[in-house]
Amino acid sequence: MTTTADTLILFGATGDLSQRMLLPSLCALAGEGLLHEELRIIGTARSDLSDEDFREFARKAIETYLPEQRRGDLATFLPRLSYQTLDVTTPEGYAELAGKVGEGREVAIFLSTAPSLFKPTIEGLAAHGLADANSRICLEKPLGTDLASSCAINDAVASAFSEDRIFRIDHYLGKETVQNLIALRFANIMFEPLWNAQHIEHVQITVGETVGLEGRADFYEHAGALRDMVQNHMLQLLALVAMEPPGSFEAGAVRDEKVKVLRALRPIAADESVTGQYRGGAADGKIVPGYDEELGRDSDTETFVALKAHIDNWRWQGVPFYLRTGKRMPERVTEIVVQFRCVPHSIFPGAKLKQNRLVIGIQPTENIHLRLMAKVPGIEQEGMVLREVPLDITMPDAFTGKVKRIAYERLLLDLVHGAQTLFVRRDEVEAQWRWIDAIRKTWAEEGQKPKTYSAGSWGPSAAIALAERDGVSWHE
Ligand code: BG6
Repeated sequence: MTTTADTLILFGATGDLSQRMLLPSLCALAGEGLLHEELRIIGTARSDLSDEDFREFARKAIETYLPEQRRGDLATFLPRLSYQTLDVTTPEGYAELAGKVGEGREVAIFLSTAPSLFKPTIEGLAAHGLADANSRICLEKPLGTDLASSCAINDAVASAFSEDRIFRIDHYLGKETVQNLIALRFANIMFEPLWNAQHIEHVQITVGETVGLEGRADFYEHAGALRDMVQNHMLQLLALVAMEPPGSFEAGAVRDEKVKVLRALRPIAADESVTGQYRGGAADGKIVPGYDEELGRDSDTETFVALKAHIDNWRWQGVPFYLRTGKRMPERVTEIVVQFRCVPHSIFPGAKLKQNRLVIGIQPTENIHLRLMAKVPGIEQEGMVLREVPLDITMPDAFTGKVKRIAYERLLLDLVHGAQTLFVRRDEVEAQWRWIDAIRKTWAEEGQKPKTYSAGSWGPSAAIALAERDGVSWHE
């Protein structure tokens, strides 16, 4: 699909995501001249607001969440916005919305409401001619809580929209460094010949967050770290690291390769996962309460998970992928570590050669760090002295003057232009859920309960042991 939308409808327009991400992103894009001038934005939500009220709401959101130098001219951006009061579960409001959209428009619809509202919303849109061949729809996570509920959502959406008109968001795919991973692998010749089990010993993917519940108890308590972070963001990172080179950057080509990796994930064994839940401690620069204290009751929801994953294909046979993510970790960090194997034979007797290691920093610092061995300068009688040296590229230094973007900017622009490469296809989501459901089944069968860890630590000691029993230490 290559047509450009001229109307963007935001469902859940007064919600948290809209305030913090969507409205600021749209304003930033408009400020840079990246949103074509005819694009109109219609917000809908249950609140009874006028167009002017909504513009005022948007102004406040933008002034709170978008740095001043990125706002452009608000006086030209805000008039693009209008508003329709609409309770998606009742028929009222849809006809007015359709009237506002008008005839023959190319419409992009963004659902940032609870997934339980997707079905009635789609029915309402379809009944009012807003789900025809001129419309595309974008869905925000969570897309289900397991495979069955995810299929039910996908079926409901598919009843009105064909797959080439469905845009499933994983906001990690909108992050610059995540896209840079694709560039690093496929715009350089030097990595691909080494990118396999013969040369790579293991891969680590860490997503550490310092925040706790952030007032999202209702959601998080029924999700937990596995479903909140691993099912989507971490498996997307894993797929990008592990996929075969696609034939092009077209949506079909990239997503075909990702789904093959996701389908090749081996169900993990009971001793290949560790779960944890934080207790009170020092994190985020302050003393913080434990998860159960924040929640106000006991709970078995995991706020940390570490896994040892395997991809059953030729390229990755015998290469473990260690994944870990948690709330209340010592630092906010997302990084991918590729640990290469030892040289097959050392000609430096007595020297301890460290294995080459590539670290791709995704956030907060966007950098690429390669650990190499080098000779320490000097004249030695007893042979060379070797030491590891870093080869560092920090993206903001390499590309000075480039602004730091919100991940949603890229994704909203692609939605408007109909480019699906950075969105998740149905078969990917379902392969992700299939693997996650099997892990949860194992936990249930084994009666696995989260171990405690102090806020501000890297999770339970069992997570360290999970890697250490293979002679691996987590990258710090
Ligand atoms: C969301 C999760 O998808 O991603 C949150 O629901 C998490 O729990 C967030 O905090 C992390 O995103 P980012 O971009 O801050 O790494």
